[in-house]
Amino acid sequence: MSKTSELLAKVSIFHGLDETALERLGAKLKPMKVTKDRVIVGQDDPGDALFIIQKGRVKVVLYGDSGREVILSILRAGDFFGEMSLLDGEPRSANCIAIEKTDLLMLSREDFVKHLYEFPTTASNILAEMSMRLRRADEVIGNLALLDVYGRVARKLIELAKSDGEDTDEGIVIKERPTQQDLASMIGTSRETVSRVLSEFQRRGFLSMQGKKILLSHGFAEQDLENSH
Ligand code: CMP
Repeated sequence: MSKTSELLAKVSIFHGLDETALERLGAKLKPMKVTKDRVIVGQDDPGDALFIIQKGRVKVVLYGDSGREVILSILRAGDFFGEMSLLDGEPRSANCIAIEKTDLLMLSREDFVKHLYEFPTTASNILAEMSMRLRRADEVIGNLALLDVYGRVARKLIELAKSDGEDTDEGIVIKERPTQQDLASMIGTSRETVSRVLSEFQRRGFLSMQGKKILLSHGFAEQDLENSH
């Protein structure tokens, strides 16, 4: 199996495709290398391609009139983006920006649509992935409406501990924590507020911060978030 096919086999939306289908699809993909901070997809642009992340990370963001940033999601190797405007014919719903040097594979709108008609498994996989993204978005809306800022910071940290954390005797270590500004952009608040909440959590012994590392106590990770302060 070629390297591209091996990567495609790991992308959730292409699960279930046989080797021939993966090779054919792979032949239609164009590799693209982007540097950190490059805007790959700009909000309101017309949608002309789907992107698969081969290496690196991409943030999905919206900007307010004042330039304030809201991070909707952070996508990694094996994830895809740019499908929404291809499916509904509307302009791009958000900006997709490389957080670090990123390698992408690009599939044109025409080849994407052809592939979907030929392989209903991919269409059904996309629906499953979009349902998962909607679930996450529902959770974020719920958190914004139901949790105060302490609860939102706590929930985000616990989510990061689950996805990227390493369990140790002292607690759960998140090695590469997002910056305070990025945390703020993920939970709809300001950097100053995140800084205040993290200091408060630290003062209470819920966590400790060492440079880019953050150590969450086991008790903190298991607490009832509605009563987190
Ligand atoms: P599209 O609208 O074509 O361009 C922006 C892309 O960002 C969109 O397709 C999705 O792939 C992605 N995107 C938009 N909103 C979210 C979200 N809430 N979670 C993950 N990805 C998203």
